[in-house]
Amino acid sequence: MSVTIPVGLGDRAYDVRIGGGLMAEAGAHIRPLLKRGRVAVVSDATVWALHGEALTSALARADIVASPVIVPAGEGSKSFEMLARVSDDLLALELDRGDLIVAFGGGVVGDLAGFAAAIYKRGIDFVQVPTTLLAQVDSSVGGKTAIDTPRGKNLIGAFHQPRLVLADLDVLATLPARELACGYAEIIKYGLLGDFSFFEWLETNVHAVLDRDVDALVRAVGRSVEMKAEIVAEDEKEAGRRALLNLGHTFGHAIEAEMGFGDALKHGEAVGVGMAQAFRFSAKLGLCPTQDAVRAQAAIKAAGLPTTLADVRPEPFAADALIAHCGQDKKAEGGKLTFVLARGIGDAFVAKDVDRAALKAFLIEEGAV
Ligand code: NAD
Ligand code: GLY
Repeated sequence: MSVTIPVGLGDRAYDVRIGGGLMAEAGAHIRPLLKRGRVAVVSDATVWALHGEALTSALARADIVASPVIVPAGEGSKSFEMLARVSDDLLALELDRGDLIVAFGGGVVGDLAGFAAAIYKRGIDFVQVPTTLLAQVDSSVGGKTAIDTPRGKNLIGAFHQPRLVLADLDVLATLPARELACGYAEIIKYGLLGDFSFFEWLETNVHAVLDRDVDALVRAVGRSVEMKAEIVAEDEKEAGRRALLNLGHTFGHAIEAEMGFGDALKHGEAVGVGMAQAFRFSAKLGLCPTQDAVRAQAAIKAAGLPTTLADVRPEPFAADALIAHCGQDKKAEGGKLTFVLARGIGDAFVAKDVDRAALKAFLIEEGAV
């Protein structure tokens, strides 16, 4: 079973293909995009060791020579240093604008390789072959590419849409359960922000998705990508509605920043807490029924994700530090606090100019000091 979802961006439109066994067909899908049979595959060492051979031989069957450019696994590779190294490797391969880069890995590789593609010889095509659930439902679609700097995450980047996304659900077989749950956080985000019936389906099917049942994954990844594609086609550069995709991310980012963006708390886990907080904050502000906040929290928790500050660590967070991080969020304009809040499950909206005193009172209630 597989689905194809178009991302309607005019002359930059592309398809997202989702299903089992897609990597074996990669050559057939990619060959029509090439002027000659050459690609560079940017991947991380873990993904390459597990799945590099399968991709290389699938490409070879379509007469495509693949040159690997391998970076260390982990967020640390989204750096200026690694961007310089990857760019230099691409130059050494004498890749030209008729060739193509394949981003083969999770969101780290997708963001790094996508940014390299955006700037290499002023822009070269790239294809996303996402290998984490998070990358399949979120980062491989929509054209956001970036690296981090010591001043923060994703601060240097570009919008550069891929020519194709191939999300092979079989590669998820090797993904650690914790990474799978992080991807699930982004899946439930779509239900919470704009599709109540998808949310209800996830409540019933959370274990099928986490057990990697292919039919459940096709539905979960497919509906997530469909919603993302629709939002991106309407608001590619995040002038408005695309900001809804950041549900849970302002709170989540603040917690991640306090935790030091390491392994102690992964991004998807921070988004889990952040989404639960966004619903509880909405309920406290009288915007959303309390039972919706309770139900949202239960559904996030059912995937084994944290939903409270105390789930993250026993020592209390400092409310002022969290608020300071919220003010630095990319959505913040003119120093005003912007959050994605909800009127109910499936009905999120962007709230600009959120009151700092109300936010502080909420965070104290949440156990911050
Ligand atoms: P990741 O790329 O670091 O992958 C997580 C870990 O899983 C890595 O160790 C990786 O080697 C390993 N891995 C990947 N695929 C595997 C597989 N099939 N089997 C076994 N191990 C595998 O992390 P991620 O969660 O995929 O992505 C996070 C990044 O995505 C962050 O940098 C975040 O900023 C970015 N992101 C970007 C967007 C966007 O729109 N561009 C959206 C969301 C997140
Ligand atoms: N991950 C948020 C976005 O793509 O806009």
